[in-house]
Amino acid sequence: MGKMRKIGVIGSGSMGQALISGWTESGSSVVAVVRDVAKYQHLEKSLGIEVTGDRKALVDCDVVVIAIKPQIIKEILHEFQPFIADNAMVISVAVGITTEFIGKCFPQTVEIVKAMPNTPSQIHMGVTCISGGEKCSENSVAVAIELLSSVGEVFVVPESQQAAVGALSGSGPAYLFFLAEYLQQGAEQLGLGADLADQLIRATLRGSAELLAQSELAAADLRRQVTSPGGTTQAAMEVLDSRGVDQAIGAALAAGVNRSSELGKS
Ligand SMILES: NC(=O)c1ccc[n+]([C@@H]2O[C@H](COP(=O)([O-])OP(=O)(O)OC[C@H]3O[C@@H](n4cnc5c(N)ncnc54)[C@H](OP(=O)(O)O)[C@@H]3O)[C@@H](O)[C@H]2O)c1
Repeated sequence: MGKMRKIGVIGSGSMGQALISGWTESGSSVVAVVRDVAKYQHLEKSLGIEVTGDRKALVDCDVVVIAIKPQIIKEILHEFQPFIADNAMVISVAVGITTEFIGKCFPQTVEIVKAMPNTPSQIHMGVTCISGGEKCSENSVAVAIELLSSVGEVFVVPESQQAAVGALSGSGPAYLFFLAEYLQQGAEQLGLGADLADQLIRATLRGSAELLAQSELAAADLRRQVTSPGGTTQAAMEVLDSRGVDQAIGAALAAGVNRSSELGKS
């Protein structure tokens, strides 16, 4: 990492902690501002950061990260306004909250970036899509890319696509874990032991995801490699097709996009 930055994080739940872990490993100084210090004190040791209930700790942060729930942001973000430095860079990971909204809460800065990470950031294999706000400098976008690269891959997208990428890569891990849950249930119904099924599912998903990541072939071609005509996989895929799983996936993504715009409005 280039310059030593002081990063303030508002909200240290699953996403906040995932991001912090990448930053402390790359040598940044991080302070987490929490409302219940006792609940988060352990992060001082495990992540090597400062944990405080005092919002004044944000005053000398050159980057402030907002990782609280969208509903709470709407209610309380303005309370942080007096503690944000002039021209501080603000990165928000909240679904549905626009850079315009953040800019209205923090008029002392235009350096606002919206970021859509996902939970594999915990193991630094995340994907984050970022968008600079209307007046955000290129330098701030470059800093956001650098910071978020410490927990995985980063893509720059127009802010108008944030809801769509949120439904795809932000929520994406849940779709895979859902598949794992129901494979487990189905495997046990076939009489496989729970432990064996669990190990086979984790190894299969890992190997398949890595094959997809490494392959030059499209997903559909990789699927065809497993699906001999008239074979067992084909029989299974016909059931998924006949039950409309393909359409359900499209509808699920659309529901995520709708919910994002509701969260932005409420
Ligand atoms: N999880 C994902 O996969 C994902 C993906 C992309 C984007 N996001 C976005 O990331 C954000 C955080 O999500 P999450 O999953 O990490 O939620 P989470 O685990 O519930 O964490 C939310 C955090 O906000 C804290 N908080 C609430 N009010 C606060 C206040 N007044 N001052 C300081 N901290 C406060 C909570 O503290 P307490 O424990 O005291 O309540 C908690 O640490 C959301 O905006 C979400 O849209 C999440």
